[in-house]
Amino acid sequence: MTNKSTPTHVAIVMDGNGRWASKRFLPRIAGHKQGVDALKRCARACEARGIKVLTVFAFSSENWQRPQEEVSGLMDLFALALGREVPQLNADGVQLRFIGERQGLSARVLKGIEQAEAATAANQQLVLNVCFNYGGRWDIVQAAARVAAQGLTMTEQNLGPMMALAHVPDPDLVIRTGGEQRISNFLLWQSAYSEFFFSDILWPDFDEAALDLAIQSYGQRERRFGKIPGQSAASTLPTGSD
Ligand code: IPE
Ligand code: IPE
Ligand code: MG
Repeated sequence: MTNKSTPTHVAIVMDGNGRWASKRFLPRIAGHKQGVDALKRCARACEARGIKVLTVFAFSSENWQRPQEEVSGLMDLFALALGREVPQLNADGVQLRFIGERQGLSARVLKGIEQAEAATAANQQLVLNVCFNYGGRWDIVQAAARVAAQGLTMTEQNLGPMMALAHVPDPDLVIRTGGEQRISNFLLWQSAYSEFFFSDILWPDFDEAALDLAIQSYGQRERRFGKIPGQSAASTLPTGSD
């Protein structure tokens, strides 16, 4: 089911796993495990609503600074989830993409990423971009380095196609769960004209009703892209895919 106010591309900062676990006197990794289930539910719900692209923040460039035990727990969970969840995601028509710096990831994680991308490359129902070892600043710098390496002029038109999400349009709606109202180095370039929705719900508790609230709020916004009310609402900004 799609209507004109359904966003094409939803991006989510999946925050609050640690607090979800702490509230239950559980280790933080228990919250991350629940977070994987929440992501599966959310991907299915997005598909059912006609959303074409879901981009999620799973591990930031800065998350390496967490205690070593949590970082290794997250890496293990990520590799495990990749092995376990890909067949179902594949059956659901989900195309998996992993966005971020690959250098520094273990051979096990890299293998999981490569296999998941290869297995789901032809799927068309939903593109699921998983930002892992990702930072918005990293993205801008790697794009700029590629522009420079090709001897191109540094323009928005030349930089856009070099950005890590150039295969999809910019996000229409960026959701952050967990109560914080900040971007934490997520899609700095791509969210230039995104609508933002902040939810106090901790990510493991984020369900279909919570997603619908965000979509409903999005549907009430007037996106002006620098114009005045009543002018054509269509963006004239160059997008990643231009
Ligand atoms: C988000 O949840 C997941 C990752 C950053 C990997 P947090 O782990 O940041 O959870 P809180 O914010 O501490 O509750
Ligand atoms: C952002 O959450 C990163 C992810 C959700 C992967 P953080 O919990 O790391 O963000 P800060 O530290 O509160 O800004
Ligand atoms: Mg957090």
